[in-house]
Amino acid sequence: MRVLVTGGAGFIGSHVVEELHAAGHEAVVLDIARPAPGVPWIRADIRDAGAVAGALAGVDAVCHQAAMVGLGKGFADAADYVGVNDLGTAVLLAALADAGVRDLVLAGSMVVYGEGRYDCPRHGRVRPGPRAEADLAHGRFEPPCPRCGAALLPGLVDEDAPADPRNVYATTKLAQEHLAAAWARSTGGRAISLRYHNVYGDRMPRDTPYAGVASFFRSALEAGRAPRVFEDGAQRRDFVHVEDVATANVAALRALPTARPGALRAYNTGSGEPHTVGEMAQALATAFGGPAPQITGEYRLGDVRHITASSDRLREELNWRPRTGFTEGMTRFAKSPLR
Ligand SMILES: NC(=O)c1ccc[n+]([C@@H]2O[C@H](COP(=O)([O-])OP(=O)(O)OC[C@H]3O[C@@H](n4cnc5c(N)ncnc54)[C@H](O)[C@@H]3O)[C@@H](O)[C@H]2O)c1
Ligand SMILES: [Zn+2]
Repeated sequence: MRVLVTGGAGFIGSHVVEELHAAGHEAVVLDIARPAPGVPWIRADIRDAGAVAGALAGVDAVCHQAAMVGLGKGFADAADYVGVNDLGTAVLLAALADAGVRDLVLAGSMVVYGEGRYDCPRHGRVRPGPRAEADLAHGRFEPPCPRCGAALLPGLVDEDAPADPRNVYATTKLAQEHLAAAWARSTGGRAISLRYHNVYGDRMPRDTPYAGVASFFRSALEAGRAPRVFEDGAQRRDFVHVEDVATANVAALRALPTARPGALRAYNTGSGEPHTVGEMAQALATAFGGPAPQITGEYRLGDVRHITASSDRLREELNWRPRTGFTEGMTRFAKSPLR
């Protein structure tokens, strides 16, 4: 297979390129940044229709990783997120339609769900809304049952859970899926969205407003500071190793030619081993040999409390298995190079 990897110079995209090579496929990168030496590179913005059309020559499938990521600096970033993520995806899809390329893997995200799954002892499955700032400011981090206010039990969401994006980035990731589904319907294309959980590993970007929490902690440890854990540290996430995300992409690319045409199918892409943010900080601090994490009680309004999902569909339908467990992965990550 010859695969165009948009965003192939980035954290996840660069691992997808490596995994494609390891599986004997050819990768071409479209990115504004330079990929690893020796990787064929089209230096272009994903919104540049001419360049994207040119990049599709001889391509069998596209793995679309290019995006503006993270929570950003505030609402002022909204137009940039929508521009890169949604206009960019629309430009790409239009070029796919023109070129007759039918197979697309999209870097999706679990942020499309908003809060994870919760059960109330009295009301069963419930969907808590966004947390009130007054609650967060008083250290009431757990979302209560929206009907009776009782404490809730967090569980695993599956791909059929309703979407509920809570910030601009999440909204753009959901729109990418809807755009790809519309493309598939009107062209007979086949699309897979891999809804990644919290990805970590080698070449994760350093500490910026656009980076993930594991990178904040790593950067702090490197600077000799304690990782600063927001809220009370009990937020649950699924930390999945970037190499496992890369093999999921290759599994998806392999499955696409026999997938149902005209549709997008979503797959949660997580380790299946939920941990709290506090546990992650502790694992990193221990492996790094740095100061113990500090629980600060700070919060970010766009954050959800718990988001963990079942990745059984990916395991069952695409025959994928993660190879790196939490302790091994965090031990490696504590010493691995950042970008
Ligand atoms: N890192 C995570 O935990 C995570 C979780 C869920 C989903 N994702 C998704 O995975 C994908 C890859 O994310 P990442 O963590 O590797 O981020 P990253 O920032 O390391 O990689 C993104 C790449 O896209 C490129 N890019 C950005 N804007 C571009 C543009 N306008 N034109 C062309 N290239 C452009 C960047 O140069 C970069 O190389 C994104 O779609 C992101 O939404 C990431
Ligand atoms: Zn209730």
